[in-house]
Amino acid sequence: MTTRRLPRWHEVKPLLGTENPFTNRRAHALARAANIWDLRALAKRHTPAAVFDYTDGAAGDELALTRAREVFGRLEFEPRVLRDVSNLDTSTEILGAVSALPIVLAPTGFTRMMHHEGEPAVAAVAASSGIPYSLSTLGTTSIEDLARAVPTARRWFQLYLMRDRSPSRELLERAAAGGYDTLILTVDAPVAGLRHRDVRNGLTIPPKLSISTLANMSRYPAWWFNVLTTEPLEFATFRNTEGTVADLMNRVFDPSVTPADVKWAREVWAGKIVVKGVQSVQDAQILADQGVDAIVLSNHGGRQLDKAPVPLEQLPLVKAAVGGNMSLFIDGGVMSGSDVVASVALGADAVLIGRAYLYGLMAGGQAGVQRAVDILQQEIRTTMALLGARSISELNPESVRIRSSN
Ligand SMILES: Cc1cc2nc3c(=O)[nH]c(=O)nc-3n(C[C@H](O)[C@H](O)[C@H](O)COP(=O)(O)O)c2cc1C
Repeated sequence: MTTRRLPRWHEVKPLLGTENPFTNRRAHALARAANIWDLRALAKRHTPAAVFDYTDGAAGDELALTRAREVFGRLEFEPRVLRDVSNLDTSTEILGAVSALPIVLAPTGFTRMMHHEGEPAVAAVAASSGIPYSLSTLGTTSIEDLARAVPTARRWFQLYLMRDRSPSRELLERAAAGGYDTLILTVDAPVAGLRHRDVRNGLTIPPKLSISTLANMSRYPAWWFNVLTTEPLEFATFRNTEGTVADLMNRVFDPSVTPADVKWAREVWAGKIVVKGVQSVQDAQILADQGVDAIVLSNHGGRQLDKAPVPLEQLPLVKAAVGGNMSLFIDGGVMSGSDVVASVALGADAVLIGRAYLYGLMAGGQAGVQRAVDILQQEIRTTMALLGARSISELNPESVRIRSSN
């Protein structure tokens, strides 16, 4: 017969690991997130619906985003075996400097709304992971504060051209003085996209205390407590911004931008220039002729023109037309390291990541962003090893194809 006794604490403690499981619930949840989708689920649980939807959502019927992810879902790799992959190198050169991964953290507006740690938390992860970070014109941390908070991060600045050129010029001067080495000029937002989730949620910046938000508060007390006890939630560059993000974009940003303005940026900005939001071979050619350093094939994560082309499908065409003349970056719908590897194999020099790190941020602040980048890094390494690719330069189009059906 079995004789039972109560377990003793010194016997149980080692089984629980070194961390106290009760006080460290969030850290455990992050560690157990196996992929970016798991971080998204955690993010949803910890963030008010309107904020989650602002991040997760896209424009119109959200087809541009859904299709981008669907195409990644049809990727098929053709691995090579019997290659010594014991020494893997995931680093690559991005616009003149080495990056530990072929990844750039994309500019995203209003990051402190997703989590009070905001832009500095994301930039700190970029610094510790050795990859570039981009600060948005619609950031909630100023150019100078971010540079002071994370001086070791490789910093890029993203600009939306404003109707009045002098504040744009001033921002570029401040970014140059703050040690930002690359300008991302976003050109796919002459007007704001029609984001239905934000309309339905009545999302304003900053979020208003209405009856429904008050009701919502009780479900997300930590988020509200953090918002109300940290620096007021506002854009670092724009003050008195009553209304929605779309109202602000339509009021301030310039819909009359042409290639002459890219030339203007070239004159004002001495560093590298990346034009973001290119979606056709013709525009890629125009920008190559202008001598920009890189373009991002991007439909803004589906947040601007719905039913826009899927960047991954445009990539080989654009690569064939202008690939030798400038760097080619891509973004939209990337949710895994294998999406990154496939994009690079099909011709991208780097991949911008938006929501993937924002899900991490909403799930657990800086630790959550770190988890997101760690997940992507591990997936990139594993995919490369299993593909038989020892370095980024060994990734090539022969190793991946897009199936016509799943
Ligand atoms: C919440 C959010 C805010 C964004 N804000 C900006 C912005 O201010 N400027 C910009 O150029 N792109 C912005 N983007 C687009 C991203 O830079 C990037 O193109 C997009 O997120 C890539 O798609 P992914 O989120 O599926 O990775 C934003 C994207 C999201 C999700």
